[in-house]
Amino acid sequence: MRTSIIASALLCASSAICTDQQLPLGSSPLLSSQSDDDAPPYRSKLLSLHKSLVSIKSTSGLEQEVGEWLADYFFDKGWTSNIQFVPPRENTPEGHERLNIIAWPSDVDVPDPKVLLTSHIDTVPPHIPYSIEDGEVTKSTMISGRGSVDAKASIAAMVTALDELLDAGKVSADDVMLLFVVGEEVSGEGMRWFNDSLDGVDHPPHFDAVIFGEPTENKLACGHKGALFCHLEAQGEAGHSGYPWLAKSANELMVRAMSKVLSADLGSSERFGNTTVNLGVIEGGVAENVIPEHASAGIMVRVALGPQKSGGEVVRQRIQAILDEVDEEAFTFHCGQSYGFVETNCDVDGFETMVANYGTDVPHLQGGFTRYLYGPGTILVAHGPRENITVGDLETAVEGYQKLVLNALGN
Ligand SMILES: *[C@@H]1O[C@H](CO)[C@@H](O)[C@H](O)[C@H]1NC(C)=O
Ligand SMILES: *[C@@H]1O[C@H](CO)[C@@H](O)[C@H](O)[C@H]1NC(C)=O
Ligand SMILES: *[C@@H]1O[C@H](CO)[C@@H](O)[C@H](O)[C@H]1NC(C)=O
Repeated sequence: MRTSIIASALLCASSAICTDQQLPLGSSPLLSSQSDDDAPPYRSKLLSLHKSLVSIKSTSGLEQEVGEWLADYFFDKGWTSNIQFVPPRENTPEGHERLNIIAWPSDVDVPDPKVLLTSHIDTVPPHIPYSIEDGEVTKSTMISGRGSVDAKASIAAMVTALDELLDAGKVSADDVMLLFVVGEEVSGEGMRWFNDSLDGVDHPPHFDAVIFGEPTENKLACGHKGALFCHLEAQGEAGHSGYPWLAKSANELMVRAMSKVLSADLGSSERFGNTTVNLGVIEGGVAENVIPEHASAGIMVRVALGPQKSGGEVVRQRIQAILDEVDEEAFTFHCGQSYGFVETNCDVDGFETMVANYGTDVPHLQGGFTRYLYGPGTILVAHGPRENITVGDLETAVEGYQKLVLNALGN
């Protein structure tokens, strides 16, 4: 079932999915260890929200619990929200739902916000429990756990930033909306679902700006590399390993082709550097003494060429040409998702800028809006066992998101 964004529903009023109650804000032990190192007034609220989100396991495909928690959270805040049910993944248990959460502070049924803030509620595996350094909480206190950076830090900071702006009367409740999607870590299913749901809606919102939350070390990204996911097969001929000239080794073809692909110039640009290839999977052959008939490989290419629409295809053709050069017949080569580099607006005063080598949901949402990519924490620890963020970085992001919203609204 695809819930349209305009079919506004006061969540949980009657919904069976809203069973879990959130921890009341301020019930966290964090509060009792508040310090005075110029802590902003929202610190305990921010850390409590971040803690609740990180504590809930939400590996891609298993996002039901965190989605329900957020739906309850916005309901309790008195915001209007809406859920979209995104189709299950292979690992989604029978009877479980995957929820995109859309929430806005006003009580209108058909919102038309100028600014959308969005991030993702899924994480990579494995789940790592939440923990916070002992002692007094200061800006340098470290918080660890899966999603503590990517991207629950962005979610907590976005929500807090909007609360601050609304409380201060700096933005109108009609102007902003939040969207938290599933499946970003696995090809962006949640955002694609949201994107497609706007088609056919009578009054789709037409955002002036969309702010995407991903770890950029609180720098404003000017864009990120494009991507190409490909699968290759090499077909040879089996034979006795003592007589290689009577057969054709699929492994040898694959190794020669991949070696050329890895060292080739597949395209570069000043802003994004070189296109790079990760030979992520390689398999082939059946035994040491048999010339392999079959080999396969999986590659992920980080594309430094634009434009977004066709830059990936240019790189695909270059790889195809290399395969043809090695052997015109042996290879089959299929690429799925493909896009060139993605540009985002980094022309805002007061931010350091950066470019990212990773993919995001930015290319999965289409429209003529200004795009920003910004968030706390570093990608360098994001998918690893040491994922952590400091309280100070979370707080800087709250300020950063406020600035971006105001900039997007022209204030
Ligand atoms: C890009 O590749 C060229 C060789 O093709 C190399 O000389 C250069 O250092 C690379 N640039 C970066 C930023 O890695
Ligand atoms: C977004 O939705 C539009 C239809 O509204 C569709 O044409 C487009 O292909 C979608 N984009 C992506 C990246 O899925
Ligand atoms: C915490 O993250 C930083 C990067 O922000 C990293 O350098 C450090 O090793 C991590 N520490 C631990 C204890 O995980």
